[in-house]
Amino acid sequence: MEKTLLIVKPDGVVRGLIGEVISRVERKGLKIVALKMMKLSKEKAEELYSVHKGKPFFQELIEHITSAPIVAMILEGENAIQIVRNMIGATDPSKANPGTIRGDYALTITKNVVHAADSKENAEREIKVIFGTEKPIEYKRTDENWLY
Ligand code: CMP
Repeated sequence: MEKTLLIVKPDGVVRGLIGEVISRVERKGLKIVALKMMKLSKEKAEELYSVHKGKPFFQELIEHITSAPIVAMILEGENAIQIVRNMIGATDPSKANPGTIRGDYALTITKNVVHAADSKENAEREIKVIFGTEKPIEYKRTDENWLY
């Protein structure tokens, strides 16, 4: 089953939105197979966002993501990557539709509450950066027969 990485960013954690984000993914039917709160080091943050190195917003991005704890989770489900991207909405909250996490809870592009992997390759790479060799936990949701 497809896996993706979703991160509640420091602004989301400090604003008390961890539960709101988790609640949405749970209700959608996605399975949380790993969950971790951590404070990212500058090195880890730069590894996570290596694709943005050299861009004008890189430093601000690294400063923000290391400014307070994050909550990272691995989510599993059919088409999980695209589904989670749809749920978080456009990167710029001023363009994110209402009903999406950024559309409902954010105002600015740096403090946009959540991050999610945008491709299979990035999901695998980002999961490794955050969770290392830690294995996702296998279990069944009680509603799986009604989701698939
Ligand atoms: P995220 O999905 O975490 O991926 C990279 C982040 O860089 C993005 O969300 C934004 O929070 C941040 N960012 C800041 N400025 C920009 C920008 N101009 N374009 C894209 N991302 C930006």
